[in-house]
Amino acid sequence: MKKPWAGRFKEKTSKTVESFTESISFDHRLWRYDIEGSIAHTKMLCKQGIITKADSEKIINGLEIIAKEIGTGKFKFREDLEDIHMNIEAALIKKLGNVGGKLHTARSRNDQVALDLRLYLRAEIKEILSLIKKFQKILLNMATNHLNSLMPGYTHLQRAQPVLFSHHLLAYVEMLQRDNERFKDALKRINLLPLGSCAIAGTALPIDRGYVAKLLDFKGISQNSIDAVSDRDFAIEFLSSAALLIMHLSRLAEELILWSTEEFRFIELPDAFTTGSSIMPQKKNPDVAELIRGKTGRVYGNLLSLLTVMKGIPLSYNRDLQEDKLPVFDTVETVKSCLIVLNEMLPSIKVNTKRMHETAGDAYSTATDIAEYLVKKGVPFRKAHKITGKIVLYCIKEKKKLEELSINELKKFSPLIKKDIYSHIEAEDSVKAKTSRGGTAPDEVRRQIRRLDNLIK
Ligand code: ARG
Repeated sequence: MKKPWAGRFKEKTSKTVESFTESISFDHRLWRYDIEGSIAHTKMLCKQGIITKADSEKIINGLEIIAKEIGTGKFKFREDLEDIHMNIEAALIKKLGNVGGKLHTARSRNDQVALDLRLYLRAEIKEILSLIKKFQKILLNMATNHLNSLMPGYTHLQRAQPVLFSHHLLAYVEMLQRDNERFKDALKRINLLPLGSCAIAGTALPIDRGYVAKLLDFKGISQNSIDAVSDRDFAIEFLSSAALLIMHLSRLAEELILWSTEEFRFIELPDAFTTGSSIMPQKKNPDVAELIRGKTGRVYGNLLSLLTVMKGIPLSYNRDLQEDKLPVFDTVETVKSCLIVLNEMLPSIKVNTKRMHETAGDAYSTATDIAEYLVKKGVPFRKAHKITGKIVLYCIKEKKKLEELSINELKKFSPLIKKDIYSHIEAEDSVKAKTSRGGTAPDEVRRQIRRLDNLIK
């Protein structure tokens, strides 16, 4: 088939070049948006009197038939027609003859591809946002059910202080809330119409860009035609928001992996979401969580890939820009699949609250509470820290837990220590006492849940 741009050429394109330059093998994903954009463009051409009503109806009808053919798998994509734009246009011309050739009036593939990618990202971000929301609700629900579950909170992966499991889960809800905000913010800049910028300079034909923007439900139009055909910041913003999102998912995945080990035994992963070993019959492996952690590398790579593609491109459109699509598609599919699998897996995780509770108060994790007890009695914190350190050292030597020390033993370290100390060294007391804003006390965590509940509705 002749290429739409064949007029100026004497020789046919080499086959090697055709398969080197094609993008139809991946940009076919944009077909829906390409057709949607073309229909809006045609309506505008008609309204402006650039094409007749009769022609516009034929074109729109033809495009709708092509959409059906693609949707039902009947359409044959051709590599020699390079990309989705030329595949659809060529099919239209084949159906309508000369009338089909009017579709590309006042338009270039340069603004067309920018439009398609924006429409695609706009739709996909909306899906990602709803998956994030679903995930937040699952976590919030778990947090509500675990308002009484204690766990050891960690720093340096060493038991640090007892916290509510609920509080720990809410930390992820907060991260996801920022992810949500970042995607929404990126959406503001994605949601602008580039069409009408044409190849680079705009057009001499009397188009109405505002009308097309309205038809396609864009918030506004791009203001500089050179910028509009060259810009891929919007895609980079998407990739960077996705990189942050998957970083959060990966940290959770890592915790699920750790928590499900024999060493931790905090959770049990559902059978349906784990895999066995081909040699060790006893094994139950957390492959889903591991793959989420592993896929993070690819999503980071996609961000770096597009940043690198963009760094040396002179204005305006250059074919390098075709390399924007694979990283974007891959990231969209990867983060969506990670969210979908987590949304399914998380509600069926078994939480071993007993084991978490038992370990919460271990490892002298309420030592800070003793120091704060002394501070309340007027001891400067640094001194209180030192005294408590000595108490811990004594416990290690005597193989005793903090709460097993007698009042006389304790008094040796400071005469300020009274019997009421015992209401400060159990893990439950420690948690209840953390009433500062954002802290782990049950009332405070309840407030956090209410706040997030309202935010996420
Ligand atoms: N397939 C191309 C891309 O993805 C479409 C734009 C081609 N424009 C051009 N002037 N060759 O970027």
